[in-house]
Parts: sequence; C-alpha cells; structure tokens
Amino acid sequence: MSHHPPAGGSAGRATAVSPANIAFIKYWGARDLERALPVNPSLSMTLRECVSRTTVEYSPTDGPDEVWLGRSGAPGTRTDPGEAFSARVLAHLEALRRRLGIEPGSGRFRVTTENSFPAAAGMASSASGFSALAVAASAALGAHPDPGELSALARASGSGSAARSVMGGYVEWPAPGSDPDDPHAAQVAPSTHWDLRDLIAVVETGAKEVSSLEGHRRAPSSPYFARRLADLPARLERVRDALRRRDFAALGAAVEEEALDLHVMAMTSRPSIHYWRPGTVEVLQAVRDLRRDGVEAWSTMDAGANVHVITLPPHEAEVASRLEALPGVRSLIRDGVGSGPTVEVEPIHSTEDESE
Ligand code: DP6
Repeated sequence: MSHHPPAGGSAGRATAVSPANIAFIKYWGARDLERALPVNPSLSMTLRECVSRTTVEYSPTDGPDEVWLGRSGAPGTRTDPGEAFSARVLAHLEALRRRLGIEPGSGRFRVTTENSFPAAAGMASSASGFSALAVAASAALGAHPDPGELSALARASGSGSAARSVMGGYVEWPAPGSDPDDPHAAQVAPSTHWDLRDLIAVVETGAKEVSSLEGHRRAPSSPYFARRLADLPARLERVRDALRRRDFAALGAAVEEEALDLHVMAMTSRPSIHYWRPGTVEVLQAVRDLRRDGVEAWSTMDAGANVHVITLPPHEAEVASRLEALPGVRSLIRDGVGSGPTVEVEPIHSTEDESE
C-alpha cells in the first residue's frame, strides 16, 4: 500500500458509519477463500439505512485488542459479542496492522460496534461491519487510503462483500485478472445517478443455516457452476448497460435472473444449501403479481431467506403495503441507494470512559 501512517501508529480514535449493500451480480465461489479472491466479478448497490456504526480507538501502548458490541460513549450499553464474532474482528485487526505498516500485535485496538438492523439474517452485516472497521481503523491511525485501498483493507477481513461497501452508489468488484493480489472495487456510478429503492422483506430473523463462506466452498460442486460462469459476462454487461441507461425493466430482469441463478447453485451444490423459507416464496410470488398489475418491482436475494425488492420511488408505497400485508413478512426495512461510509475522527479524552 502506498500510504504511510506514523511508524508504529500514533494514538487516535475514529467512528465510521458504513452501509450494507445488495448485490445485483453476486460473488459466489472463490479462487482463494482465505484471501477472499472471487472467481467472478460482482456488482452491488450500496444502501443507506442498514448500517454498522463502529468506533476504533488505537493506543500505541501494547495490550490485548478488545471487541465490544454497543455504542461507544454510552457506558453500560456494551456487551461481549461472543467468541466467534470477536475472533473474526481480531483477525481483521491483525490484517489491518499488516497492511497499514504496523508491527504484528503492537499497540492496542479497542473496537465498539453496533448495527442498525438484525445481524446474521442474510442482511450483509459482515459487509457493513468490516467496511466500517477498515474505515474507522485507518482513520484512527491517521492513514488516508484512497477508495481502492480502503476496499482492499475491507476485503482483508475475508468478507468479499465488504470490499464493495466502502464506496457509495453502484460498485463493481472485478475478479482478479492482471492484478491478482488486489482486485479493488470501483464505483461505476454515484448514488445521485439513479434513486433506486430496496424494500427488504424480512421473513426470518435467525442466523442463516450455512454461511456465505461455506457457500463459496461448495459452489464448484454444483453442476450449474460452469454454466453460470459462462453466462455471467453477458449478464454483467446487461446490468452495467441498464444502469448506464437507467433502464429499470432491463436491470430488474437481469438482477432477478441472477438471484435465481445463485439459489439454484446453492440448492444443487453438494451438500445442498437451501436458504428459502415459505415466506421467501410468498414474497417472490407477490413481486411477480405486482408486475402483472403494472407495478415495477423486481426481487433479489443474497445468501439467506430474506428478499430485497428493488423498485422506483413512485412505486415504493404500493410495493411496501403489498409486502407488509403478507403473512410471512415479519418486518419490512425501507432502504435505498446511499452515498457510502462516513467517518469522524475524534479527540481522545480518556480511555477510561469505556471501562466497565
Ligand atoms: C451471496 O463472502 O462477502 O451475499 O461476508 O457474509 O457478506 P459475507 O459474505 P461474502 O459473500 C457474499 C455472498 C453474497 C453475494 C454478494 O454479496 O456478492
């Protein structure tokens, strides 16, 4: 990386608010899973309501890194996130040290993080969470990575979708090609280009059965995997072109087709992964009915049971009321395209206000 924070890293504290994203073309299958190197390019819309808010404080005095759930500066709200979550965050902090030129294990990070939405419900909490961590940690260290470098810092968490959440609007993350080490995401259009809405029909709030990580591992076992990779360049071009021209019917058709492709692959991988629940099918049917009635809405899903319904502002109210009336829909999150993470660097008063 080309940026150089002060040797060893100086004390600093920053809070980042970073959004989740919804993939129009999905990352599914890895060339190198440890390094989150995808087999195929992906393209997503960055959201604005589903966010992680993460505060990182760095002190050059060595000590064990700490990870908390809750809101920094709100004493008494912090809880222990549990071992699995902490381990992923601690590993990402170590990767960030390496990439930001800080000695392994030196200094001490304190991380406090919370989500605006139910985590682990197929809602890309890792995308927003690891994007926020990368943005806040680099700001706390006084580093100024450019967006491409930030994307690589977020990807160092092992979450590929996080590599896309560091930028606003419509973001493409290429497959490794000429630059096999660092396929940086790049913005293809800013959020102001097109005001698309994403109504997220939450049909299940528990953790998904099979992680995306395991899904990437199993992807090549599907007999449709090779077929998908052959079809993908044309579909990606359809999505890019529809975005460029703001052609909603063309975009929606490609996006819905892509989501079904992802789930066909999941269902036909060995062992099979089945993310759908009865509520999922209800929503997918309702979206088709809406279109039959002349309401422009298209569905997409990531690796989970919940359905993202993409629509245009004039149809939002109608789509929302139709979805909310479905018995299988537990809640509806009204989201839309957003402009990416924000970060605030704060003066350090004392580290003691965080102690229990
Ligand atoms: C189906 O390995 O990025 O959402 O870290 O859980 O977000 P998370 O998984 P990651 O795979 C994402 C899989 C996907 C499609 C996508 O977002 O591109």
